[in-house]
Amino acid sequence: MDKPKVVLGVSGGIAAYKACELLRRLTESGHDVRVVPTASALHFVGAATWSALSGNPVSTEVWEDVHEVPHVRIGQQADLVVVAPATADTLARAAHGLADDLLTNTLLTARCPVVFAPAMHTEMWEHPATQENVATLRRRGALVIEPAVGRLTGVDTGKGRLPDPAEIFDVCRRVLARGVREPDLAGRHVVVSAGGTREPLDPVRFLGNRSSGKQGYALARTAAARGARVTLIAANTTLPDPAGVDVVQVGTAVQLREAVLKAAPDADAVVMAAAVADFRPAAYATGKIKKKDGQDPEPITLVRNPDVLAEISAERARPGQVIVGFAAETDDVLANGRAKLERKGCDLLVVNEVGERRTFGSEENEAVVLGADGSETPVPHGPKEALADTVWDLVLSRLG
Ligand code: CTP
Repeated sequence: MDKPKVVLGVSGGIAAYKACELLRRLTESGHDVRVVPTASALHFVGAATWSALSGNPVSTEVWEDVHEVPHVRIGQQADLVVVAPATADTLARAAHGLADDLLTNTLLTARCPVVFAPAMHTEMWEHPATQENVATLRRRGALVIEPAVGRLTGVDTGKGRLPDPAEIFDVCRRVLARGVREPDLAGRHVVVSAGGTREPLDPVRFLGNRSSGKQGYALARTAAARGARVTLIAANTTLPDPAGVDVVQVGTAVQLREAVLKAAPDADAVVMAAAVADFRPAAYATGKIKKKDGQDPEPITLVRNPDVLAEISAERARPGQVIVGFAAETDDVLANGRAKLERKGCDLLVVNEVGERRTFGSEENEAVVLGADGSETPVPHGPKEALADTVWDLVLSRLG
């Protein structure tokens, strides 16, 4: 089989050096990559580097190898075009259909999925001109990843950083695998909770659970790669931020509830993949609890935590919002799942069978997705991303 053909467009920003790692990941995973830098990009990383790493010729202009008509052929033959970093200038030229170099010509001739990973200073990203250009590109079917927040070129920090190359690579892989030109969750805002809450007893101890957050992160990643704006509410996870996802860190069930209620009014869907503690210690000791010789320990009294899933399902923040819960069951999986779906009042419930060696921390999952309309969608054993994609398919069919 021919290797998938990827065009890596690189525009002139300091983050161009990070595109070398993206290129490496693409070539090492069996893609035929043609790098098309802009002339300014070569101020940051030279043509020799791109050519050596890709094993392909590199040019910025349409005037080289004219007999091969590169300004048309490169775009036409591509299975994916990814522009990383995409500067404000490149986004503007792409949005306006200019064709003054090889990259912009390629963007006009490509009929495959196009991914832009913008990187620039916060002011440039937030400028109405850039925002309108991004909106135009998205309306036309391009996937424009939100920049990450963090350290920028100088000492300043803010929104505008190029997401981690490993995460951009992940988006490219997913877009290629789905083989869909237009991101089907474009224009949607989804909220996903992930991880496991920790309920503190004292400054050093907590009651927690084994949730790794991997299923929730897979939901966030897949939604972003399908074009959604994603708010990921992460409880005690150690996973890297997925590209283009707005991550809100929380610790306890009460904090998770606040974060979900804050994000939900604006969301088309809320997926509660987090393992939320049903109970928390009634009292919190501000100093470390000490053992006392000859004395039995004090019993721990627990109180109920709010049930976030039941609450947001009962009082929908927005008409037509789709709400998804998760359930981990050991026995009578389907019957317990149905009862839980009714009790919680959500639209979909992903039911996992859990046991000693299943689900927690693993890369794979197996589940049945129950619908409030009586539907039952089995998802065979496979990667957590496959389950995530099925969840988004079911959400999308309910969003109408
Ligand atoms: N959930 C929640 N708030 C809680 C507890 C759970 O929003 N305080 C959500 C979880 O995110 C998940 C679903 O509800 O989507 C899981 O339901 P839950 O009642 O926690 O399941 P179990 O604890 O397994 O319930 P039970 O003990 O009744 O089987």
